[in-house]
Amino acid sequence: MASNIDARVEELISKMSLEEKVGQMNQLSGPNEAYKDLIRQGKLGSLLNVVGADKCNEFQRVAVQESRLGIPLLFGFDVIHGYRTIFPIPLGLASSWDPDLVRKAAGIAAAEARADGINWTFAPMVDIARDPRWGRIAEGAGEDPYLGSVIAKAAVEGFQGEDISDPRRVAACAKHYVGYGAAEGGRDYNTTDMSERTLREIYLPPFKAAVEAGVATIMSAFNDLCGIPASANPLTIREILKGEWGFRGFVVSDWNAIGELINHGLARERRDAAREAVLAGVDMDMCSNCYIDELCDLVRSGAVREEVVDEAVRRILRVKFMLGLFENPYVDPDRARSIILCEEHRENARDIARRSMVLLKNQDGLLPLRKDLRAIAVIGPFADNRADLLGCWSGLGRAEDVVTVLEGIREKISPSTDLLFSDGSNIEEAVTVARKAEVVVLAVGEPAYRSGEGGSVSTIDLPEGQEDLIKAVYGAGRPVVAVLFNGRPLSITWMAERIPAILEAWHPGIQGGNAVADILFGDYNPSGKLPVSFPRTVGQIPIYYNHKNTGRPPEETNRFTSKYIDIPSTPLFPFGYGLSYTRFEYRDLRINPARTPINGKVTVSVEVANVGEREGEEVVQLYIRDVTASITRPVKELKDFKKIHLMPGERKTVEFEIPAERLSFYGRDMKPVVEPGLFKLWVGPNSMEGLEGDFEIV
Ligand code: BGC
Repeated sequence: MASNIDARVEELISKMSLEEKVGQMNQLSGPNEAYKDLIRQGKLGSLLNVVGADKCNEFQRVAVQESRLGIPLLFGFDVIHGYRTIFPIPLGLASSWDPDLVRKAAGIAAAEARADGINWTFAPMVDIARDPRWGRIAEGAGEDPYLGSVIAKAAVEGFQGEDISDPRRVAACAKHYVGYGAAEGGRDYNTTDMSERTLREIYLPPFKAAVEAGVATIMSAFNDLCGIPASANPLTIREILKGEWGFRGFVVSDWNAIGELINHGLARERRDAAREAVLAGVDMDMCSNCYIDELCDLVRSGAVREEVVDEAVRRILRVKFMLGLFENPYVDPDRARSIILCEEHRENARDIARRSMVLLKNQDGLLPLRKDLRAIAVIGPFADNRADLLGCWSGLGRAEDVVTVLEGIREKISPSTDLLFSDGSNIEEAVTVARKAEVVVLAVGEPAYRSGEGGSVSTIDLPEGQEDLIKAVYGAGRPVVAVLFNGRPLSITWMAERIPAILEAWHPGIQGGNAVADILFGDYNPSGKLPVSFPRTVGQIPIYYNHKNTGRPPEETNRFTSKYIDIPSTPLFPFGYGLSYTRFEYRDLRINPARTPINGKVTVSVEVANVGEREGEEVVQLYIRDVTASITRPVKELKDFKKIHLMPGERKTVEFEIPAERLSFYGRDMKPVVEPGLFKLWVGPNSMEGLEGDFEIV
């Protein structure tokens, strides 16, 4: 099949004029009538933000029937956490630590999108983010390269399936290549600068995982990376991605990222911008028009060899053939109507949402709540809120599709329970309502667009006014359960000290209210774990679990150690953390062999027992530390995890096999190496707790 596609690609390229080739490398946005002429002339290969089966068919018809070679268009769209059936934001999905779940969400999103004419999604975003000021932390899987890689692979598999010509699948796009999440100060689009080692060990692995999973495309990022913008960077694109990793798909620039090379100061004019980007290996130009305006001339003048263009077109056409667009360029609008937002997808959205939530605190077992409470008050700006539950990049999601917290709770409680409500805008009223209740559910957090692209903030406190509301309602003296809706870790130190129960719901999508109610009333036992550390305060940023030890690791009683003197050196909630309504005990850690050959593997087993009263799921996490090495290593690194289900009283032996090669790092010569020596190992419920052992690599 692949070689057949290669032959068809070559045959087509041999018929194409230079203009037609460059046309394939051009992408523009929106269902603009004027683009039809460009399509007829073969000057446009892809559209983004054209949605709906009829609209896509209409533009596709022009390409297929009215252009000289009839090459079909790619229709790209940001299907990030759902198309019309909206799931939790990706940071929430990652909190499930459940690749099957991520695969399922991506699969449903792909099916809805493809039925509606979209054949290419700009997802998954696989940028590692260690800075919650950066709004786009919402769109990724958090701070860890291993978890990020597992999630990246699952998302690609979910979008693409086995074969992207399947009418339920789309081509995926891992973005933003690369280092974008390291934006200085957490300010979106800002400069990034890092060692090649950090690039390779922290930021590249999820992209590599996406490539290994067969991702069809990669998006080059906006950021300046060590002095060479990512969308004109020959090291990352040509050498690493296409060379070392053998990536065979194509690279699309981010929106106008080629034009922005002028602002970066890398290109003096658009002609230079086009040359720099194409030579670096960017195959398609999203929306800057630099390629369509300049590339033919660059080739004719000899500044760019035609083979460079051929190579880009080859990659683009290959994806079009793989999508089956030459055989099936159109979609059936009836099919779209029958599957989009169907019952089954909405049911799945509910289960996916509750599996994405993280129980942060549950003092004295306040949760789960009884369904026959005398009166329950639901208070706060997110209590009866639809639009913000959708999250920051919600495709065709509509507020009217969303189940609110109030509605979800109303469905759960007994007919005799009084349901009281206040949106919290009037604090006095909120307090009065709280006083009448047996329990208060306080729905607080940040609006959807306070995170996401361009949603960077200088403080990660709750938005203005909400702390006052929380303090006042707490002061009413009733037990309070806080439910947080947010796109990033927030600094919630005051709440964490006083409010007895806190559930992190993220922006949970259309079934948010039902999912929250399922958890609050115990119909689902929470199992999510944080994919990112929660700082105590903005001043701790960057704070991540896999940091180096320094020469003076923090000691509370010694001033001259690496810490702040005004706050503890730990995060408020660590990476990997999350509670359950039941309790899990870890016992009997075994590591074999104690001396493992450098080309062997370490087998680790632990017994996990459910010693509480409810069935539940636990994410069993394995961390290591390379104690001494020629390059200093992080204090902990996640190397594996397993999610298990246990009935009350049940115990399971969980086994991990860690090939020694997974312990490798980039040595002084920048080649991967496993060095002999002592390794510490932990297996536990989060990055700060667990049974400890060690082994040696010999
Ligand atoms: C974003 C990308 C997105 C693209 C197309 C850009 O502004 O950075 O993530 O895919 O727009 O909508």
